[in-house]
Amino acid sequence: MTSAGPNLYLVGFTGTGKSTVGRLAARQLGMQFLDSDQEIEHAHGKTVSAIFAEDGEPAFRRFEREFVEGGHPAEGCVVACGGGLVVPDGMLELLRARGVIICLHASLETILQRTARSTHRPLLEGDDRAQRVRDLYGPREAIYRRTGTMVLTDRRPLREVVAHVLRVYRREAAERPARRP
Ligand code: S3P
Repeated sequence: MTSAGPNLYLVGFTGTGKSTVGRLAARQLGMQFLDSDQEIEHAHGKTVSAIFAEDGEPAFRRFEREFVEGGHPAEGCVVACGGGLVVPDGMLELLRARGVIICLHASLETILQRTARSTHRPLLEGDDRAQRVRDLYGPREAIYRRTGTMVLTDRRPLREVVAHVLRVYRREAAERPARRP
């Protein structure tokens, strides 16, 4: 049986562990796990890379907004959000209205290690990946910091990261006003 607590949105830059941590957290909470990129791929019948190449980034950001506004259940889900989902104006507020937000964080070094072999992240394509990461992360840092509790995923065992996420989720879920029927 799945539990119907408020949704948990894991945000943060690419390579901070949102999907790995999200899957484990969902299992422990008895909630459904969703990955916004995968949901968008299913809804539009093509990969994120194809969406970027054929429709452009603004279309992808529109799809992310549609996913948040109506493309997933209102409760009972742990959602690993694409790294840029929370960046456009208004997205943070939309997420806040729908659940608990936790931001995962990792050092540049770790992000580079975790994404070294990635071929499905169009924004990281290019010769100098470290520079691409810096260029993308720089302007987003202040937004990530505003999202919610930051959980470090660097140099600590995965089960500790998951336990930290669960503690924060349970505390913040308990503090949320009850949803109107
Ligand atoms: C993006 C991050 C990706 C994916 C898309 C754009 C971004 O998700 O949504 O390639 O803007 O940072 P991950 O954070 O899962 O890599």
